[in-house]
Amino acid sequence: MSETVVKINNLVKRYKELIALDNFNLEIKKGEVFGLLGPNGSGKSTTMNCVLSLLSYDKGEVYLFGERMEPARYDLKSKVGVVPQNVAVFEELTVQENIEYFCGLYIKDKEKKKQYVEEAIDFVGLSDFRKFRPKKLSGGLLRRLNIACGIAHKPELIFFDEPTVAVDPQSRNKILENIVELNKQGATIVYTTHYMEEVEQICTNILIMDRGKSVAMGTSEELKKMIKNTENVVVDIRNLPEEKLEGLKKLHHVYEVNYMSDRLTIKCAGGRHNISHVISFFEQENIDYDRIYSELPTLNDVFLEITGKELRDKED
Ligand SMILES: Nc1ncnc2c1ncn2[C@@H]1O[C@H](COP(=O)(O)OP(=O)(O)OP(=O)(O)O)[C@@H](O)[C@H]1O
Ligand SMILES: [Mg+2]
Repeated sequence: MSETVVKINNLVKRYKELIALDNFNLEIKKGEVFGLLGPNGSGKSTTMNCVLSLLSYDKGEVYLFGERMEPARYDLKSKVGVVPQNVAVFEELTVQENIEYFCGLYIKDKEKKKQYVEEAIDFVGLSDFRKFRPKKLSGGLLRRLNIACGIAHKPELIFFDEPTVAVDPQSRNKILENIVELNKQGATIVYTTHYMEEVEQICTNILIMDRGKSVAMGTSEELKKMIKNTENVVVDIRNLPEEKLEGLKKLHHVYEVNYMSDRLTIKCAGGRHNISHVISFFEQENIDYDRIYSELPTLNDVFLEITGKELRDKED
């Protein structure tokens, strides 16, 4: 059995009357890229900050590497890297000096520190910017600096809190590649986000949280098998009369039909040829459409079915 790196038992965190974590449980094994997925305000950052003893909590226990984590456990903290949601670097220090500072919190040997800082700069692709102060960096480069500061001391366990928010696609890909590479080098990763595509791309295990509770856990495949939705037939179509929706709902395996902004989504439970049934229906009814395709359920469908809410922000 592989080693448990993070264990959370019945964690409760209140902010006055608001219950941010509601008897939350979690277990992460060594070598995982563990995705903590949830909408805004679901408690992802609170979880992370409680695990790291950066926040106090009302009830429950946190274990890191099999030992009870407490604010004064610097030995445990030195094995952990944190890339916080809000970039946390010193404005008056250059890129290199920032990384030196954070690395120096844990690495006291001068030569070793120098080597680790160089490796971190190289790893996130900031060699050309080492003399820059944070203000001069683009959003994406600043995120990469934030990462370098969190990982330079070569931690065994690394928490990334939404590292790709408001980042250009090139930096986003670089960040995701970096995370996969750190995992290949042996680090266990906890990855917090509300972008389900990223979670599907890199995570070996996923926990979906909502309102401070765990609502489902498993691999992306396992999560999708938990729901009745097996396929969505999507049609770009204009001016579809309301009464035709009733006919579509009667097709075999169809359990829900949504029509909004010229897009028709037909949710199916089971069956393999749902798209052909839909096409036949349109032919019979003499209905024209622009485009039709079939999609497997996404993590958003899992989330929607379990909680009745969309995972994604509409504005994203
Ligand atoms: N310092 C605080 N004081 C009061 N309430 C807080 C505080 N920090 C967080 N909360 C509340 O606790 C809940 C959980 O917040 P948290 O930041 O953990 O969510 P999150 O999942 O990280 O969201 P996001 O995706 O927006 O980062 C939210 O309702 C939030 O408003
Ligand atoms: Mg957060």
